[in-house]
Amino acid sequence: MKHLSVQHLLGIKYLNLQDIDLLFETANHFKEVINRPIKKVPSLRDITIANLFFENSTRTKLSFELAEKRLSADVINFSASQSSVKKGETLIDTVNNILSMKVDIVVMRHPNVGAGVFLSKHIDAKIINAGDGAHEHPTQALLDSYSIKENLGSVKGKKVVIVGDILHSRVALSNIYALQLQGAKVMVCGPTTLIPKHITSLGVLVETNLKKALQWCDVANVLRVQHERMDINYFPSIREYTQLFGINRELLDSLGKEIVIMHPGPINRGVEITSDVADSKQSIILNQVENGVAIRMAVIYLLAQQIKPNS
Ligand code: NCD
Repeated sequence: MKHLSVQHLLGIKYLNLQDIDLLFETANHFKEVINRPIKKVPSLRDITIANLFFENSTRTKLSFELAEKRLSADVINFSASQSSVKKGETLIDTVNNILSMKVDIVVMRHPNVGAGVFLSKHIDAKIINAGDGAHEHPTQALLDSYSIKENLGSVKGKKVVIVGDILHSRVALSNIYALQLQGAKVMVCGPTTLIPKHITSLGVLVETNLKKALQWCDVANVLRVQHERMDINYFPSIREYTQLFGINRELLDSLGKEIVIMHPGPINRGVEITSDVADSKQSIILNQVENGVAIRMAVIYLLAQQIKPNS
């Protein structure tokens, strides 16, 4: 039985290539399971998982919850907007109270960078980072790479451009780590104000001309402008952003080749991508969502193996 090299999933930064291979192999198995008439396996019948969401989420929260239920785990859900966090309780107190109910795994989304790492040092449960501020979103990057591999046969040697608000995106950073670990070439493209100054130190290419970036790549992963993380104006208007960095059919047709279009969601239709492109054959956005469940089942299953060494 192969094992992950890590005790928690805090970021792609902490994984090695064998971990990614093992996660993908396990996800292949679960993808087959969730396409069966009976989509559930009894693997985690005695495991309890708490989903703690201190920030809004639709897809990630539902995807984790479904993954946990498909594995037959007991699941409790917590969202900060309806909790005592609003009454001034600290993170450790909130989580310790939940853990005294005998929780084995905590899936956490939190607005603060490093919240997962902090928690892993203070509590006795497996931690899965479901997004910490503008830092990492490891399961999203895993499902993105898995979807590229499924579509193009491999990640190694592929050219991937991440388009849009790189500065505020945890999806971007986790994708950069995951893609490079697997031998892909990565470029970022967006307004200079939304590209971190030192990003080239990560070994990525930077391009501010969208057409040139798309001509270079095999895959474009398109990001939403994260208005909720912006305290100033990073570009003059949404209309100008769309004109310079929006992906539309005409632009794609002018490339003379077909690239794969991805988006982590939620999409702002008509801003970073037009509806016809998002819904076209070259878009794998819904495959990403489907693969998200299989990937999250794999992450949870492999971490749970470390709790139950004899299973
Ligand atoms: C992303 C996130 O929350 O970081 N969404 C997601 O998890 N699918 C990206 C975003 O919010 O734009």
